[in-house]
Amino acid sequence: MDIDQVKELDRAYLFQNYGRQELCFEHGEKECLYDLAGRRYIDLVAGIAVNSLGYSHPAVTRAICHQAERLVHVSNLYLVREQAEAAAALVSICPPPLSSVLFVNSGAEANEAALKLAVKHTGRGKIVSTYNSFHGRTAAALSATGQKKYQSGFEPLLSEAIDLVRYGSVEQLKDAVNGDTAAVILEPIQGEGGVIPAGREFFRTARDLCDERGALLICDEVQTGLCRTGRFFGFQHYDVVPDIISLAKALGNGVPIGAIVASKDVASTFTPGSHGTTFGGNPLGTAAARAVVGVMREERMDAQAAAKGGRWMTELRDIAASSGGRIKDVRGQGLMIGLEMGEDAKKLQSKALKEGILVNVCAGAVVRLIPPLILSDDSMKAFNTVLEDFLS
Ligand SMILES: Cc1ncc(COP(=O)(O)O)c(C=O)c1O
Repeated sequence: MDIDQVKELDRAYLFQNYGRQELCFEHGEKECLYDLAGRRYIDLVAGIAVNSLGYSHPAVTRAICHQAERLVHVSNLYLVREQAEAAAALVSICPPPLSSVLFVNSGAEANEAALKLAVKHTGRGKIVSTYNSFHGRTAAALSATGQKKYQSGFEPLLSEAIDLVRYGSVEQLKDAVNGDTAAVILEPIQGEGGVIPAGREFFRTARDLCDERGALLICDEVQTGLCRTGRFFGFQHYDVVPDIISLAKALGNGVPIGAIVASKDVASTFTPGSHGTTFGGNPLGTAAARAVVGVMREERMDAQAAAKGGRWMTELRDIAASSGGRIKDVRGQGLMIGLEMGEDAKKLQSKALKEGILVNVCAGAVVRLIPPLILSDDSMKAFNTVLEDFLS
């Protein structure tokens, strides 16, 4: 089947709810994708920060194939060995007191679970979130998402329950968190919002306010978690430990899975029947997650992302310095990098595609680089060359 036939089937039978690029891939290896015609692309998108170990990672592929042959699904009516093993692996990379895991199937579901847990644990009904945030598309996660463009047409959401503050504004945070607040939910770096780091003071203030006023701090690590920013988790850049973290994306390296991790005390709020999901933590997903976490620990993907990202950011800042202001900002952490480029962002994306490099544009004006963490120096150089060529 060629790309035109796929396009025809897509138009005939699928909801047209995605603005898809006219590309269709057949397989992937390391940080490269190959389309139906066999053309190779360097992928600096990684399925939107999902394929952190690259495509067809042997240890993950082995774990998936082995599990698929034995048992894909049983349900949470029973003990699930792979789920328990994956939870132990995940907790091994979390700082205390984060020590209990609940598996779900996506990032939005993880945030949904985190918000419900915070409300039940505190007995309070209000959530403080931030403008320009993104927490997912389910009703509560969408309500906590501080961007009208995702919400319009779906009102009334749970907006009564959400207080939005400016990301980075310590003053607004101090005004918003009060005795009705169940939780503050924050991304360590806003991803969809344009790769915007929270800043240490903002994060620390959120932690202190939650402690003072009896609220929980939820850290949305769906995009930043699992080595993306050069640490196992984004919050580790700010020397705070949240009460609940939400994870998804990289956790299964492409197999759909999400999770929340909380302290034993907070986790104990959910008793049998409080919350659940049919597929959450099934043997296939958790076998993949266990393999992913194992590889990340053994191969120190956090250190790799920090080193590669640090080098790349320096090179990109040098290029930006001589871009005559066309690159307005280079920001991020580890291998989560944003180039603020205004209208040039989309043009650079098209140029890169012609040269066989995939990049993502978020917030309309920011080229977001979120490649597999196993990225080679040659692939980084290939992008730098395209960027310099574009700017010349
Ligand atoms: C920070 C953050 N939270 C939540 C989500 C939603 O995750 P999912 O698309 O798996 O529901 C995303 C997705 O981009 C995200 O970046």
